[in-house]
Amino acid sequence: MDDVNFWGKRVLVRVDVNSPMKGGKLLDASRVEAHARTIRELHEAGAKVVIMAHQGRPGGDDFDHLEQHAKALEPLVGAPVDFVRDVSGPEALRRIDSLEDGELLMLDNVRLLAEENVQAEPEALARTLLVRELAPHFDIYVGDAFAAAHRSQPSIVGFPYVLPSVAGRVMEAELRGLSKVLDVSPRSFFVGGSKVDDVVKVMPSLTAKGTVMTGGLVALAFSKAYGMNLGPAENIVKSMGAEVMEGARKAIEKGKVMVPVDYVVERPDGEVDVEEAGQELSGVPKDIGPSTIAMYRDVIDASDAVIFKGTAGVVEDPRFRRGTVSLLEAALGSGAFVLVGGGHANAALSWVEEGLRKAVGYTSTAGGAMLYLAAGLKMPGVEALAYSYSRFIARGGWP
Ligand code: 3PG
Repeated sequence: MDDVNFWGKRVLVRVDVNSPMKGGKLLDASRVEAHARTIRELHEAGAKVVIMAHQGRPGGDDFDHLEQHAKALEPLVGAPVDFVRDVSGPEALRRIDSLEDGELLMLDNVRLLAEENVQAEPEALARTLLVRELAPHFDIYVGDAFAAAHRSQPSIVGFPYVLPSVAGRVMEAELRGLSKVLDVSPRSFFVGGSKVDDVVKVMPSLTAKGTVMTGGLVALAFSKAYGMNLGPAENIVKSMGAEVMEGARKAIEKGKVMVPVDYVVERPDGEVDVEEAGQELSGVPKDIGPSTIAMYRDVIDASDAVIFKGTAGVVEDPRFRRGTVSLLEAALGSGAFVLVGGGHANAALSWVEEGLRKAVGYTSTAGGAMLYLAAGLKMPGVEALAYSYSRFIARGGWP
């Protein structure tokens, strides 16, 4: 962004303000806060700023409009952020074209459009209706959605193919921050949380780069792949789908994935107990158990970098926080470079002893995207910005 004069320019900025939402309420605005800097800067530079983002996935409880995100942005940017319940239809185009210098407009959830939910090659994404309808109304695209840069979707990859594009402040900070850990070895990964489909895809790259410990739903999928009987949690694994399980089975053929040797379980009568893995579980696993914590701690102690994504248990419930907090504390006390990515793992830092919290090497707004980069995989959203630079900017000068 330093290289561009944004005065009077029509700027489309793609941010990632995908946040926890329940019952239509925005529960945490930390990603909105992170992107405020980019938007404030564009506003102060006198650009006509149009903000594009997604929230949740179609069909999910957190799939929603973006009014609240726009409202949350206003005090952070220090200017009104107009909102339109449209993405690329006539009302959105009318409002985009009527923007004055320095004015801000947020479009609605880009995933309301079916074609945004399909991953494809960049050339095909550049031909989507979304890109064809919107691109002619802009001079520059700012790619700031690092947390979604592992998705090859029109709003991330399509626009840089047809518009001069630059990286926003979040994208820049994340790429710089994460580059610090890319060459550190020995390295270990703690991978938990619920987006198992993504984790399964990157797992062979992760096991090639370091030791991988699992928790949360990720641990259940890989435990099943190793043939364990998860008792009442068998249904949870079934609901992940055959493709995910096939992916998990293939991944463990390529490299070892560590899975819990015991779990903190909750029985139907609400009783909480510790059970060994390997035998049929009688309660639903809600956290990793003490022997697993000890086993993972040994891996952490032998690492020079530890990368956390997701949590080990259902941390919303204080009874199932111990695994996540113990591993974070072990890593932070070990002297290793500790990288914490994603909303849930970052939230868990608030339960860590205060003195240790300062030892965090870098906190990323991204979960899945951070893991992608740490696994050494190419990110379509970053590649697209590089392409745009060579196609439009390096040849013709800055807009
Ligand atoms: C995230 O929260 O990981 C990003 O916003 C990407 O969301 P997605 O996994 O639904 O593509």
